[in-house]
Formats: sequence, structure tokens, C-alpha cells
Amino acid sequence: MTRILITSALPYINGIKHLGTLAGSMLPADVFARFQRSLGRDTLYICATDEHGTPTELAAAAAGQDPATFCAEQHAIQADLARRFGLSFDHFGRSSSSRNHRITQMFAQTLWENGFLEERVTQQVYSNADQRFLPDRYVIGTCPHCGYDAARGDQCENCTRVLDPADLIKPRSAVSGSSDIEIRDSKHLFLRQSLFSDRLRAMIGAKQGDWPLLVTSIALKWLDEGLQDRGITRDLEWGVRVNAADWGPNPDGLRPDAEGLAGKVFYVWFDAPIEYIGATWEWADAQAAAAGKGPPAASEWEKWWRAPEADDVTYVQFMGKDNVPFHTVGFPCTLIGVNERLDAAGQWTSANPKPWKRVDRLKGFNWLDYYGGKFSTSQQRGVFMDHALELLPADYWRWWVIANAPETSDATFTWEQFRAQVNADLADVLGNFVNRIIKFAEGRFEGAVPAGGEPGPLEIQLAKDVQAKIIELTELMEAMEFRKSAQALRQLWVLGNGYLTEAAPWTAIKTDPDRAAVAVRTGLNLVALFAKVSEPFMPATAQTIAAAVGEAFPGRWPQGQGALEILPPGRKVAAPEVLFRKIEETQVVEWVARFGGAEPAGS
Ligand code: MF3
Ligand code: ZN
Repeated sequence: MTRILITSALPYINGIKHLGTLAGSMLPADVFARFQRSLGRDTLYICATDEHGTPTELAAAAAGQDPATFCAEQHAIQADLARRFGLSFDHFGRSSSSRNHRITQMFAQTLWENGFLEERVTQQVYSNADQRFLPDRYVIGTCPHCGYDAARGDQCENCTRVLDPADLIKPRSAVSGSSDIEIRDSKHLFLRQSLFSDRLRAMIGAKQGDWPLLVTSIALKWLDEGLQDRGITRDLEWGVRVNAADWGPNPDGLRPDAEGLAGKVFYVWFDAPIEYIGATWEWADAQAAAAGKGPPAASEWEKWWRAPEADDVTYVQFMGKDNVPFHTVGFPCTLIGVNERLDAAGQWTSANPKPWKRVDRLKGFNWLDYYGGKFSTSQQRGVFMDHALELLPADYWRWWVIANAPETSDATFTWEQFRAQVNADLADVLGNFVNRIIKFAEGRFEGAVPAGGEPGPLEIQLAKDVQAKIIELTELMEAMEFRKSAQALRQLWVLGNGYLTEAAPWTAIKTDPDRAAVAVRTGLNLVALFAKVSEPFMPATAQTIAAAVGEAFPGRWPQGQGALEILPPGRKVAAPEVLFRKIEETQVVEWVARFGGAEPAGS
């Protein structure tokens, strides 16, 4: 039996996330995790807040807080929203945790020993006005390649070229706008990514056809452009310290040989993916604490990450397309580099008796847009998790987002389409079915699953159709085809509605009570089935539906035959409150006015 390890890209600590972030990582990962658990597989779903880096320092300063306080507060807010959205993380960690610091430093140490790190003196942009170094996108200037005059120090938005802040022509500070800037020498550690090109190309090649085309093509594009060695340290305060003198007591006795790096921290994109592992350690800490035990043995969390114990683990990553380079190039370089050495003859050899696990399946997503434009955290354009929950329960959003997952192309949110689809799928099809059949059982069969009667041709056909649809849905879910999975699930609900209309127990009851009993029993079993297969998508609704027919929650994913023989005759049933309220046109008008619609924000 395989174990399933799932991670979704870590949301940045600053700012409440919008639907676009949910769509590209956390929500599909959650659907997949719930599906895997309902198959009975040992599943671990890990996420965390991504807390280091310049954006955090600046956001904390803007809030008048120190970064640690700021992050603790923001983490609590995000954890609460995630819970209310039904995101079933086994652990929601923090990249600033002591566990992540330790592993990041340990990995750096090993990379150093394995010969993959190099000290280089670089030119960094220092702002006299701001009294600080300005890394990455905190410098703005003219792109040396295309002449765009608002290029950011890490990348030109116009021509997409990756830049170094010192490359910019006429640089100015993104913090204060000041161009009182000087270039200072500063020593940094570089990860020698250029050595890894062939290894990565082989890895991506082996995944072609298996991973989404979107993912392999982004990865290959990066490799084709030639891998550059990459600076993995920064002149910042807030982050994982580089210099051993800053490491504090260190029971592992590890010491990086990195002179002259006092006061610097690792680049946020170096330590953030390592937090997938760090958060697994935090999870083991929490498990042990909950059981009233002391700190967990290393094996408790390493069994998910290190061979040979982790050999039965399938590791699945979820992310938006902008994250793909960091997960197909950056993080794999780190992991290969702590597992192996490269000898003078160009041969890779194992350098780690318990090598760290690398990704098996990588699911990448395109963008979810808002009226064809970007969701924007800085301009507050779009729907954010907190506002979404003010308007409607999580399941409305979960359903719409998954049914429109931006898999093969970008997708767009509009209030009008949201209303139309939610009303059609959830209110008219699923909600209507559940209420109609249970109400009828209450009215005519004393609120219990009726006995009597034998399945006829209608039921035999339905069982076949349902069986085929479940197989299709199961395959799509295994393949992580979310949009198509939602479609198949909806078709299953439609089969139920079609059956009820044809079997028409409300008519049969007048002439043939046994026929009516069969139809009601079949209908109620469909309800029980819908609770099971809808759970990954809409857990709260599924729980309500399961309770309505007295089923345990969460249930098991249906396997093999018998999908319509779940409920014993005599089982009590009770119609739930209206499952989904229709969204009114007036609400759409109000929400468009509040959140912006077809007009671009600010106009
Ligand atoms: N915080 C990043 C983003 O939102 C994602 C980090 S993923 C990790 O784009 F692997 F680095 F953690
Ligand atoms: Zn450019």
C-alpha cells in the first residue's frame, strides 16, 4: 500500500489570500487529500505560511510591528480562514519555525560539504535614504534588455527576463522611491545550479506525459535558457541565519564554513520549500504533544521524507505556474545536492545513506483571473477568503473554484457566471434532489428507508450508469483532473435526478406501493452515495447530507459494486434545511458594486 504525501505551495504570510491562490494550490490539494483519505490511504497533507523575506519585513514595518509579532498574528488569521474553508491540513506550519531553521542550516551545511556552494563577492544595491540593502524586487529601474522603465530587480514584467538588481539602469528604491542609491560589495553564498542541468533535464524528461504539459514546458524552458548559479543568501534581518555563529546551540554539531556572512540570512526561496519538511517535523511535534509525549524521534517525521522508510511514499506537489521553476529547478537542486556528490569525472555518486525524497507528481495550475484581469492583493481587486465567507458558506466557493480549475488554460471569475453555475449545479441539481427524495420519504414512508419491491429495469440500468460514472470519476480524481472530476460528479447527480423523474414514486405510490418503495429506497441510496463522493469537494455539505440519511462521516469512497445498496431498510432519514440557497440577481448587483466587476479596478 502506498502512503501519500501532499504539499501545496506555501502562501505568503502577508495578506489574506484570494480565490486565485486557493485555485492554484491549497484547494485542489485539499480535494486530493480528502479523496486519498477516503480511499483509506495513509495521507499526510502539509502546508505552512511562507514568512521570510523582504515583503514580510516591509509589511511588518507598515503595520508598525516587528516581523515576529506580525507573522504570528497573520499566521493565526490565515489558519482560521483555512479551517473555515475546510482545508484539511494535517499540519499548517510556519517557515519561521525553529524546525525549518534547523533543517535549512543543515541542508546548507551539507551542500557546502558536497561542494555545491560557493562564496562570491557581489554588488548589491544599498539605499542611503532607506538605510538598507534593497534585494530583488525592491529596486526598480530600466530593464537592460527591453528598455521597460519599471522593471523590478528580480524580473522584468515586460520581457520576463530574470534580472539582478545591479543590472537595472537608473535604479531607484521601491520602498521610498529614492534614487540615492549606491552599489556596495557584499559576500554571498551561491548554489552552483549550473552543475545540475543534465540531472534536471533527465528528471523532467522522465516525467513528460505524466506531469501536465504546462509544468514540463515551463521547466524545459528554464533549462533551455541555461541554468545560472543562484545567490541563496540576502542582506536582511528576518530569516534563517547563515553564519554558524548565529545558529545558537546546535546539538548536531554542524558548522558551515561560511566566513564573513555574519548577519545575513538565506534567500526566502531557499528556505521556503524546505519548510515542507520542516512542517512535517512540526506535525510530528504536535502529534507527540497531543499524545502527552516529549519531542518525537526523528524517525516519526523522517519516515515521510527519507529513504528507505519513505520508499512507499508518493509525494505530490500542488502549485500555480509561477512556482514551477522553483519546484522543478531550485528545490530539486537543493535535494539532489544534499543526497549526492559530483566527482571530478562528472559522475554523480550517493553521499547520503538516507536520501531525501523528491517530488513524484507535480500538479501545476494556470491563473484564475477576475473578470479577465489579475486578482491583486495590493489593489484589493477580486474576492478574498475572508470576504467570500462573509457572503456564502465555503462549499459554494469550493465547488465553483474546482469546477473551473485553471488546468489547461487560464480561467476567469465573474459574479454572473458564479451565480449561474452555483444555482444550476448546487441548488437545482444536488440540493433539489436531496430535499425532494427525503421529503417524500418523510411524507409517505414515515421518514425511513422503505423495504419491499424488487429492482426493475430502471434500477438495473441506473446501477450500471452509476457504476460507470463512479469508475470515470475515480480515474479522473487519481489523475488529478479536477475540472473533469467536478463534471463527472455533476453528471452523477444528474443521473439521480433523471432517475427520480422517470421512476416518479409520487405517481407510483397511488397504484403500486412496492414500485414506489423501490424508487424511494434507490433515491435515498443515491443520497448516501452523493455524500461520499461529494465529500472531497464540499465537505460541510457532504456531512449534512450524510447525517440526513444516518451515515457516518467522512465515509469511504465507493468501491466496486453495490454503490446503491448502502442503506439498510428501516434506516431513519430526515430532510436537512435547504442545502443551497439560490443566489439572487440583486445579490450579484450588490457584490459587483462592492467588489468591482467588468470595469478594471480604479477606473
Ligand atoms: N509563497 C510562494 C508564493 O506564494 C510559494 C512558496 S512555495 C515554497 O508564490 F515551496 F517555496 F514553499
Ligand atoms: Zn525587459
